[in-house]
Order: sequence, then C-alpha cells, then structure tokens
Amino acid sequence: MKKLLQPLVALLAGLLAAGCGQKQTDSGEKKLTVGFSQIGAESAWRTANTESIKAEAAKRGINLQFADAQQKQENQIKALRSFIAQGVDVIAFSPVVETGWEPVLKEIKRAGIPVVLSDRAVKVSEEGLYVTFIGSDFVEEGRRAARWLAEKTGGKAVIAELVGTPGSAPAIDRKKGFEEILASHPGMRIIKSQSGDFTRAKGKEVMETFLKSPEGRQITALYAHNDDMALGAIQAIEEAGLKPGTDILIVSIDGVRAAFEAMVAGKLNCTVECNPLIGPQLFDLIEKVARGEPVPARVAVEEGVFDQSQAAAALPTRQY
Ligand code: AHR
Repeated sequence: MKKLLQPLVALLAGLLAAGCGQKQTDSGEKKLTVGFSQIGAESAWRTANTESIKAEAAKRGINLQFADAQQKQENQIKALRSFIAQGVDVIAFSPVVETGWEPVLKEIKRAGIPVVLSDRAVKVSEEGLYVTFIGSDFVEEGRRAARWLAEKTGGKAVIAELVGTPGSAPAIDRKKGFEEILASHPGMRIIKSQSGDFTRAKGKEVMETFLKSPEGRQITALYAHNDDMALGAIQAIEEAGLKPGTDILIVSIDGVRAAFEAMVAGKLNCTVECNPLIGPQLFDLIEKVARGEPVPARVAVEEGVFDQSQAAAALPTRQY
C-alpha cells in the first residue's frame, strides 16, 4: 500500500509546487520563479538589457515571468500585483519613475516576497521595502559627460539638453551630475532643456524645436541623456543644414553600437557608457536573496567614457 501511495504523493507535491508558481527541474529540485517587470522597449539600451536578463534566466533554468510595461507605471504596478498572486519566489523590476511605489511595495512585503531593483532606483520613505538595488551611478554619468564637454570646449559652451523620461532616476540624476560640474564653469550654460523621453523619435522632434527657436543658432553643444535621443537629434541637425559633431558638439550616455557608428562617422563626439548587460550580476543577486544569503544594499556597474578617437577600435568589441 505504501509503495502504491509514494508516486501519488510525489505527483501531488509536484502539482502543488507548480500551482504556487514553483516549477521543478528534471532532478526534482524546486525551480526558482522570478517575476520581472521591465519598463518597455524605449531604447537600444533597454532592448539589450531585456535580452541580457532573459538569456541569463534561461541559462540558469530560472522560470522567468517577464512583463513589458510599455513605459507606464500603472502597467508595472499591475504586473507586480500579478506576481504576488502567482506567488513567485523573488520580484525584480526596473521602475519607470522614482516615486509612487510604496503601496505596492508594502503589499509585496506583506506577501513575504523579496524585491530586487534593477537599473533604476525608487524613492521610498520606509526602509526594508526592497532588499538590494543593482544599477549604474547616473549622477556620475552626468558628471562624466560634463567633464568631457568642459575639457573639449575649454569651458565655453551654449548647451541644449535632451532630458530623459520626466521623474525617472536617470533623468533626475544625469541632470544633477551634469549641472554639478557646470557650476564650476561659468562659460558653460544650458539655454534649452526638454524631455525627449529617451526615444529617438522624441529626441529628433525636440531638437527640431530647439533649432527653430530664436536662440537655436546659438547652440554649440548638445547633451543628451541617452544615445537614442542624440541619434534622433543628429537627424534634426542635419535636416537643419548643420553638421552634427562639428557645428554642434554632441555628448550622450549609454554607449550603444549605433552611437559608436555615429562617432566613427564624425557625427557624435562622446558617449558615456551605461552598461545594460547586467543579467549575470542580477541573477547572482536574485539567487542569493532567494537562498536568504546576505547581499550588499547597492551593487554598482563598472563603466567607461569613449570619444571619437577610441570609437573605431572599440566598435567591433561592443556587445550592445
Ligand atoms: O535607465 C537606463 C536608461 O534607460 C538608459 O540610459 C536609456 O537608454 C534607457 O531608456
């Protein structure tokens, strides 16, 4: 009788685990289920980030529940609530904006599910709503862009700024870091600043508006919070009959392949690297968190700065 019952008990245990969002590997171990809410696909950076996350989860045999929020916070909140309902083991997400997460983070905490923030940070008034945050130092990226421009121009520039998504951590921090350096260069001033929402189309549209404005012809430099907006702006500059990279110096952030191609073509002057390939580091953290092991509260990503003189040599090595 016992012999007859054993396979039934094993089958029931497997079914229960699957029902709770916990699949099993071939060896019978519990498979880790991770819910990941991604912002969307607004830039080449984001696409590379998504691919890195999906590839790493597949490599590790993790059951990844992936949700694309199409740039909307309300979609991210819905996805996070559905991860609670599914009973995933760990929740990770890239928050589109910094604020407005407390209620849902409290719900996740009550459900006993640990949270890992990926790429962007949140502003919360209470500790313990997430375990760790892995991402770039956006303030430093802004500083690096400004330092490069100050050196290139001898501290003299009339700057147009293409800002990222309003309220997002990279838009806030990249502006802050850039302005921090500008404070010690009185000959550098921002005369135009507007959001291009991190997309190529919006970057082009806003740059067109800048150039058509009465002050448009004074612009000597463009600071774009990401490469996609800079690439859109390059088109707008060319259509206005100017030479991007010469008439208007351009510095942006990310280091995507198309930015390196634009540097080789002489149309972009500098890109500050922001590495999206964080899948391996992210899942190292997630697996530790799932095992209840201690992790640092903040994990930074190593990055560099590339200008036109380094572009041709670096282009073949770019992975995104
Ligand atoms: O959060 C990282 C930023 O988001 C990247 O710089 C940008 O390209 C993306 O959309």
